[in-house]
Amino acid sequence: MKETILSGIRASGKLHIGNYLGALKQFIELQDKYGRNCYFFIADLHAITTPFKFDEVSEDTIQVAADYLAAGIDPEKSTFFLQSYVPAHTQLAWIFESITPLGELYRMTQFKEKSEGIKNESVNTGLLTYPVLMAADILLYKPTLVPVGEDQTQHLELTRKIARKFNNKFGKTFPEPKNYALKPLRIMSLTDPTKKMSKTGDEALMLDDPPDEILRKLKKAVTATDTKQGSPGVDNLKFLLEQFGATAQVKDFSKYNELKETLAKTIADYFADFRAKKKTLLSKPDQIHEILAEGAKKASKVASQTLAEVKQKIGLI
Ligand code: TRP
Repeated sequence: MKETILSGIRASGKLHIGNYLGALKQFIELQDKYGRNCYFFIADLHAITTPFKFDEVSEDTIQVAADYLAAGIDPEKSTFFLQSYVPAHTQLAWIFESITPLGELYRMTQFKEKSEGIKNESVNTGLLTYPVLMAADILLYKPTLVPVGEDQTQHLELTRKIARKFNNKFGKTFPEPKNYALKPLRIMSLTDPTKKMSKTGDEALMLDDPPDEILRKLKKAVTATDTKQGSPGVDNLKFLLEQFGATAQVKDFSKYNELKETLAKTIADYFADFRAKKKTLLSKPDQIHEILAEGAKKASKVASQTLAEVKQKIGLI
């Protein structure tokens, strides 16, 4: 069967090696397999549901776009665009809001987590309707497979429900897209290897970190925390070495220094080409905007067709 792939990428600034192994690398594999049937976009409208993102979102968008392009997303092969450049997303979201019960949205785990501790009246509406916009993002392109991480599977389930409800009410329009489960790789923090890697301080290796920065952070990486299962810090470093293709060298590292130096060199070499490409891209941010806008033109063709079909089916024109 011919698959159509779609995924959105939160505009959240520079990416680290956990983001790369957990999503980006797998998106590129999908692109190389399915080519023209792939849609990838940067979800800037989702990013602003977290209030402090307003002033950061445009810089974050450029950083994420440069990371994706430098890592191998090829606008000639797949459709790569910025969500807010395609107005059909918010238009379809509005229509879906009219068939989505509030109860479904209050049940979403991510909403519960993100609104925790905020008084009900003060929670922004966008935080609640976030998954409806996501359903519109997806269904506009009628994909068959949506690669997402574990934290988004509930939103995808709601997307399927919305598709089903729309189809039942107005006639078969949307496929119910399947979850293409991304490999759940647990890349741990360098400074606290019992937690997942996130973006703060020295705990993460960013994709564009220069070699000396990689070595500096790895030298500080914790290897001494022991749990009943062994040493999570050492396991994490060995796992990374394997992931970045240095399997032959995973031997018995009696001295962690040697492990750290080998890993630093492996990662620095792996991303050498990436760093050069990203630097070139960032020297002309206008060109990045242009790539995203060109992609949006391609996406709009498909999206506006679906929107027109929807409007006609519900009797809006
Ligand atoms: N909500 C997703 C995330 O936080 C990003 C996203 C927005 C998305 N729209 C999407 C993912 C559509 C897949 C499909 O990661």
